[in-house]
Amino acid sequence: MQHFLQISDLSSDDIETLTERALHFKYQGHYPHYTSSSVVNLFYENSTRTRISFELAAKHLSMEVINVDLQHSSENKGETIQDTLQTLGAMGITHAVIRHSQDHLPAQLTTLCPHMHVVNAGDGTHAHPSQAMLDFMTIVEQKPDMHLLKIAIIGDILHSRVANSLQCLFKIMQPKELILVAPPIWQPEVIHYGQITDNLQAGLADADVVICLRVQRERLKKEEFMDLETYRHHFALTPETFAWCKPDAMIMHPGPVNREVEIDSILVDGAHSAILQQVKNGVFMRMAILEALGR
Ligand code: NCD
Repeated sequence: MQHFLQISDLSSDDIETLTERALHFKYQGHYPHYTSSSVVNLFYENSTRTRISFELAAKHLSMEVINVDLQHSSENKGETIQDTLQTLGAMGITHAVIRHSQDHLPAQLTTLCPHMHVVNAGDGTHAHPSQAMLDFMTIVEQKPDMHLLKIAIIGDILHSRVANSLQCLFKIMQPKELILVAPPIWQPEVIHYGQITDNLQAGLADADVVICLRVQRERLKKEEFMDLETYRHHFALTPETFAWCKPDAMIMHPGPVNREVEIDSILVDGAHSAILQQVKNGVFMRMAILEALGR
């Protein structure tokens, strides 16, 4: 693998191999040393868990890690991201982990530094492939037979790069059913995979896995705004609505969670929640991704 940009670049074998490797790291506990690799974290949008987990993943593999402080970098002197990346490439950095608000920017940057591996850590509303991979890992760790599962994704499907990458992943890995639940104003015209509905009960009925999305207020245009009380009333995961799922259903959320908006605290912290497992698995999955990109 030269770059890690979007799920649709992967085969089912790639997805399974990365997942096996991530699980191996998780349970085996001692890691290879890639001391000649160096990773730069270039995060042009806020992030806590994704940036830190890429940093930890690189450190576990003995890679050098540089976090560019974008508040104080030359970008503020008018330098473009293209120049920043070429500068880092000239210094011999081997991996660039990029988060940016512009769709497809990481892919466009790949031609600039032929020897550098580019990792997409979230581009606009387009893709968040490492999140989809760690979500897949978390699901199959608890429920190994994907073909038997009904999976529901609830929330702002229109603006969610996580939902996009998950649709692409499930298109390849084929659960029994994928259902996307969103209010009509947050439903995209075209979906990559699954069925879409605004009926929460139909979406959750007998679901094995529920993935809640954050209400991303910062991405909403004026005409897309929805009153949070109305959203909660129709789409929140509460003990009452969660009862429509299978009794052993898992609850997931990519974070950050808006407690008491898209999901109730009692579920976030309850026995069905796999949210902290997702965070934990994120480190191991990102180790597998960095390793697969080579030196
Ligand atoms: C997601 C993101 O940034 O796309 N969060 C994450 O990476 N864990 C989802 C979100 O911000 O709601």
